[in-house]
Amino acid sequence: MKQDFKNISTQVVHWYLVDGRHDLPWRHKVTPYRIWISEIMLQQTQVQTVIPYFNAFIKKYPTLATLSPASEDEILAMWSGLGFYRRARNIFAAKEIIKKEYENKFPKHLEQIIRLPGIGKSTAGALMSLAFLEPQPILDGNVKRVISRLIKKDIAVLKEKELWELSKKLVNQEDCFSYTQGIMDLGATVCTQANPSCQTCPLNKSCKSAFKVKAQVKNNTAKTKKIITMNFSLVLTAHSFLLAKNEEGSIWNHLWVPFKDSVIALHASKLKLLKREHIRHELTHRSLDLSINIYLATKEFKVTTDQKYEWIKKDRIKDYGTPQPLTKLMSQL
Ligand code: ADE
Repeated sequence: MKQDFKNISTQVVHWYLVDGRHDLPWRHKVTPYRIWISEIMLQQTQVQTVIPYFNAFIKKYPTLATLSPASEDEILAMWSGLGFYRRARNIFAAKEIIKKEYENKFPKHLEQIIRLPGIGKSTAGALMSLAFLEPQPILDGNVKRVISRLIKKDIAVLKEKELWELSKKLVNQEDCFSYTQGIMDLGATVCTQANPSCQTCPLNKSCKSAFKVKAQVKNNTAKTKKIITMNFSLVLTAHSFLLAKNEEGSIWNHLWVPFKDSVIALHASKLKLLKREHIRHELTHRSLDLSINIYLATKEFKVTTDQKYEWIKKDRIKDYGTPQPLTKLMSQL
């Protein structure tokens, strides 16, 4: 069976127009800025999780002009709980470049966009097709799966180059917006990893794997996640929390966290231990086992440390990037 990619692409467009997820917030009031923020959030996070974060971010920073003066900490604060915080730092770095090099207008050429921090070839392709309506291929996990099934080749043996070539052939020249959103929706809602719904798939006549993909039973014995143990001493006064900017390690880098026990132990005479909290927090690839000693200080004091730290007023904690389990804990104190 020779596959007609132009025809497949048209079918994706038609399917999107009828059955696509038209209610996703970034598909309305389309601007390069909104597409950029949504694509960065969607890089490592599921649509349903992204929606409230995207809406909150856009409420606070509706345009590039409003984001322009924001500090890295303010952007990190909007990311609290979304994880993969490097993305927030890349947004900060990219908007600084846009300010300095592009007069605060989102650049519109692929070669410029792809040089911005946090934007790889696929995100750049999505931005071109969705925001500037210039047809460019994308290749995320969903699209790779759709393509590999279409041609019935194992995704593990297909080379990136081959996948990009096929993705390029599929791009729709007449309606690249609907095609791009459509191929993503198809991968996420029909051509799913475990149980693809070939019955309802618009490509089932051209797909070489149609009705042949074995349904997978959910594998609950999947790799056990690595457990990481962390100890903190959270010091508070009646009005403030003592937090330090975390400059090391891969988790929570650049977020504000309590000091390690060893730092606070030097100031034990000024403190009263209120309680010990134990929190188990699940990340995508790891489990965190947090032990937190909570201390009360009668007044703020200077800490013996090289780390950057602040006594942060309780009502201002939301303006700082803090990790979700600790944000939650502090909101109860
Ligand atoms: N994943 C990445 N980009 C997306 C988009 N624009 N819509 C839905 N899921 C996505």
